[in-house]
Amino acid sequence: MSARVVLPLLLLAACENDWRTDMWYQPAVQPFEAPARPPPADSVPLGAPPVLADRDEAAGLRDPVPRASGSVANGAAIFGERCLCCHGPKGRGDGPVSKVFPQATDLTSSTVRARTDGYLFGTITFGGRAMPPYPEGLTREERWDVVNFVRTLQAGGAP
Ligand code: HEC
Repeated sequence: MSARVVLPLLLLAACENDWRTDMWYQPAVQPFEAPARPPPADSVPLGAPPVLADRDEAAGLRDPVPRASGSVANGAAIFGERCLCCHGPKGRGDGPVSKVFPQATDLTSSTVRARTDGYLFGTITFGGRAMPPYPEGLTREERWDVVNFVRTLQAGGAP
């Protein structure tokens, strides 16, 4: 090969991709590459809900949504879409998925009755030992609506 061919080839190899000027190749942190940063120490959230790490941290939360009929009805609708398949229509743990998945807990049992509202909220948000988490698409209020519905089921006040 003549020098006229080899020299440009050598120069090209030395450049690699460094000549690229588009913004994709840069030292910035890409979306979802790093977990959300924790708030700075001693910062005070203004009206922000508490950041929860797991179900146990949620256990102490108080239910801010009054157990009014509107909330219970909304909770019932969400329960029908997201919980009934495993926990059954009355929360007894007899939904169709419980035949092929670890048996879902009877939500009217004394164990679940004794749980705090926050613990139920935490179970919906973070899941349990086998139960998957179900917060997607649900606001915090809607999750409390489900808690209110479960309490109503336990009191025997729902269908
Ligand atoms: C895929 C099946 C499945 C779905 C859907 C499901 N659960 Fe569960 N749930 C389980 C299983 C299995 C357990 C028992 C094992 C565990 O704790 O993970 C459970 C346990 C629970 C407990 C008891 C936690 C405790 O330890 O006292 C509560 C409360 C609960 N689920 C509420 C809900 C609510 C509310 C929904 C709907 C938002 C829901 N579950 C949807 C499978 C499911």
